[in-house]
Amino acid sequence: MMGVPRPRIGILGDGQLGRMLTLAALPLGLDVRIVSSGSAASTCPFLGRRPPLDGDDPQQLDALARAVDVVTVESENVRLDWLEALAARVTVLPSPAAVGVAQDRVREKEALQAHGIATAQWRQVDDAPGLHGAVRDLGFPLVLKTRRFGYDGKGQRWLRAEADVAAVPESFLARGLIAEAAVPFTRELSLVCTRSGAGDVAFWPLVENVHRGGILVRTEAPARDVAPPVEAALRAAVARMLDGWSYVGTFALELFDTPTGVVANEMAPRVHNTGHWTQAGTATCQFANHVRAVAGLPIDACAEVAPTVMLNVIGGVPDARALLAIPGVSLHLYGKEPRPGRKLGHVNVLLDRAGAQGLASAGALVDTALRLAEEPGDPPT
Ligand SMILES: Nc1ncnc2c1ncn2[C@@H]1O[C@H](COP(=O)(O)OP(=O)(O)O)[C@@H](O)[C@H]1O
Ligand SMILES: [Mg+2]
Repeated sequence: MMGVPRPRIGILGDGQLGRMLTLAALPLGLDVRIVSSGSAASTCPFLGRRPPLDGDDPQQLDALARAVDVVTVESENVRLDWLEALAARVTVLPSPAAVGVAQDRVREKEALQAHGIATAQWRQVDDAPGLHGAVRDLGFPLVLKTRRFGYDGKGQRWLRAEADVAAVPESFLARGLIAEAAVPFTRELSLVCTRSGAGDVAFWPLVENVHRGGILVRTEAPARDVAPPVEAALRAAVARMLDGWSYVGTFALELFDTPTGVVANEMAPRVHNTGHWTQAGTATCQFANHVRAVAGLPIDACAEVAPTVMLNVIGGVPDARALLAIPGVSLHLYGKEPRPGRKLGHVNVLLDRAGAQGLASAGALVDTALRLAEEPGDPPT
């Protein structure tokens, strides 16, 4: 019987991204199995409490490989050996090789540069002599980041003077670091796209992102005043990089805009917080395109875009009644326990409907509930 292909999809991770991927897969009639990460912050209680996958246990990997046809991820911070073991049995998208690059800030910088995409000046730092060499080469200020497992500004230390260098703990150095020169950016941008199995790449427009304390608080789509040739060159370079990996799924690239051009910061082999606006501002959101891609279905080219502002709900939940009274505002909560600095949801504001006044009101409501975590070592904001 002809019809929609219905591969069974396993999603590694039950955070909000796994949840929103599931919500996008259900209307396509796809059978989704979310694999718990074991984190207390599961956003999928409706799936029942399941023990986290122990991929070191061959029986558990075997059971998962029998239960699904395709495995995808909501986070790059997955055990690569587990992904590789799964890839020997079922289709893993994006490929473990691409996820492996995006797990490591050194390898991702090398990949970006190999495709002609500018990055900050950087040095790999493994020990004290390496740190001193990086300081000598890059100067102050510089940011030290763990090569792996960083997110929301965690695992980062800014060094502004020799005293900061002396204060870097041995235990931090031992984690394997990258040192980056401070990029004098005027704003932060990101590029989100989806590549299909057939090799089509659908790009959303560049968006502008605002962070506080290392956490995304706001995305404006599309970004204002982007020169079309700049965007076109970036798209071409990203498409070449994804082609090289035979990448399938949604992909994001975080960027700095500087007076001398666009500089890439980091990549994500997955749906991304700066793409959440697509749930309101485009016909096919980043989650739907990801699911379509990994299921072997055609993706949508995402040409039409309604100007949208996405506001992250962090640490505290705003007044839903007041928010939803504003035209063009939608609220998406993830069902997580409030805690300072934790992403609990997001609000999308369609600008043509809400107007400047509606956006200001929504922003004020979200701001009132906002609770950011105090993180020592964050850049001053
Ligand atoms: N080299 C840099 N120069 C200036 N600011 C930076 C640099 N690297 C990171 N930042 C700031 O810190 C934020 C978080 O860093 P990022 O590398 O994106 O890590 P994370 O994985 O935590 O998102 C960035 O969005 C940016 O605001
Ligand atoms: Mg980032």
